Amino acid sequence: MSPQVFVSRHPLVQHKLALLRSKRTEPKKFRELVREIAQLLFYEATQDLALAPLTIETPLAACEGFEVAERIGIIPILRAGLGMAEAIVDILPTVHVWHLGLYRDHETLQPVTYYNKLPSKPDIDLTIIVDPMLATGGSAVAAVDILKRWGAQRIKFLGLIAAPEGVKALSESHPDVAIHLAAIDSHLNERGYIVPGLGDAGDRQFGTG
Ligand code: PRP
Ligand code: URA
Repeated sequence: MSPQVFVSRHPLVQHKLALLRSKRTEPKKFRELVREIAQLLFYEATQDLALAPLTIETPLAACEGFEVAERIGIIPILRAGLGMAEAIVDILPTVHVWHLGLYRDHETLQPVTYYNKLPSKPDIDLTIIVDPMLATGGSAVAAVDILKRWGAQRIKFLGLIAAPEGVKALSESHPDVAIHLAAIDSHLNERGYIVPGLGDAGDRQFGTG
């Protein structure tokens, strides 16, 4: 596996992932699990963030502490990345969130871009794309293409479940992009769904389909 691909071995991630996959998990619980796993993966994926020292006053004395010194942009791929982005804002409210709308054409499996909320300049140190599913990799590769054309310098991808095909496509197209995942599954089926996967991540979060 490429040194840029990280699959979490954390017991909490694996425990929650099993619940997420279950077809018995209803949308409300599914959304809660997406959020919780996203926070755990974000924690693991940001271990290299730069810190800046600062002085704070506790109720008893002044002391030295640290704050995150990097400007971070979170890029949720609509729709399914929304829940992950909201969860990340909850644990690090200083991030900026810029939405990208991409969907996979059901016939060709090619990504179609329909929304781009990036500001004109990438005034940012680190961009993190969030999307639960990395299937053929078409959507993730298209998202990184867009971010690089925009001028993003350091990009990470945070996903829940990947197919080997998607990991290969993303790491071959963009070897500089670190990929953080909860699992890499067996394969894609003939309709481009990850097996065993969890089904359609957007439909399961939003009760559609
Ligand atoms: C899903 C998923 C990814 C994409 C992955 O989105 O959230 O964006 O498919 O597939 P790929 O790796 O083969 O490109 P989908 O197109 O179903 O849109 P949705 O989130 O609006 O349901
Ligand atoms: N998108 C999903 O939501 N699930 C898959 O298995 C593949 C793409």
